[in-house]
Amino acid sequence: MNRVMTAGLDQRWRRETVKAVVRPGDRVLDACCGTGDLAVAAVKAGAGEVVGLDFSPRMLERARAKQHSVAWLDGDVLAMPFSDGEFDSATVGFGVRNVADLPGALVELRRVLRPGGRLGILEITTPTGMLAPFYRLWFDRVVPLLGRALKGGAAYTYLPASVRRFPGPPELAALMEQAGFAQVTYRTFAGGIVALHTGVAG
Ligand SMILES: C[S@@+](CC[C@H](N)C(=O)[O-])C[C@H]1O[C@@H](n2cnc3c(N)ncnc32)[C@H](O)[C@@H]1O
Repeated sequence: MNRVMTAGLDQRWRRETVKAVVRPGDRVLDACCGTGDLAVAAVKAGAGEVVGLDFSPRMLERARAKQHSVAWLDGDVLAMPFSDGEFDSATVGFGVRNVADLPGALVELRRVLRPGGRLGILEITTPTGMLAPFYRLWFDRVVPLLGRALKGGAAYTYLPASVRRFPGPPELAALMEQAGFAQVTYRTFAGGIVALHTGVAG
């Protein structure tokens, strides 16, 4: 469903996320890992050790079938089973939007990163400007229809509502700063439908 909805661009955005924050040899956390595409991208980029965490056992089952060199863990991003400062870098792809307590998740991600560790958050956002009307048509009308029609698409019927509720890029950047991240920046892809935020744990 992700591939169809983004015309295959989602994998490129994941590679950009990894490139922005993961360095060769890093111990990497991919939180809200789902079926593991971002964690796999970190392995391919030369990460030393990759941990994928998600609280859905069925997602983890599919991730395990995909990549054996990642440690796939069942856990909640709001209370992770890790000590302070265990990771050099962390990624969250299309995950923070659905977390019940976003500021709490950011503080927890900050906690498990070492000082100087890097966080990359890839998330759907709402474009402003000329693309906005086309985007609304695609996202509010076509995506829910695709969600009903395609296998595994049921979750996409609520996607537009969850994106509308989610803070825009400047607001998310401010929340990251409040959680203790420095050098917070963001860039957008595909005319502003997806944003990549990065920050350094202070
Ligand atoms: C859209 S999927 C993630 C996709 C994946 N990261 C990727 O790049 O394709 C969102 C995931 O977030 C997970 N999730 C949501 N809230 C969570 C939480 N509090 N703790 C752990 N995982 C959570 C869900 O179980 C789901 O697998």
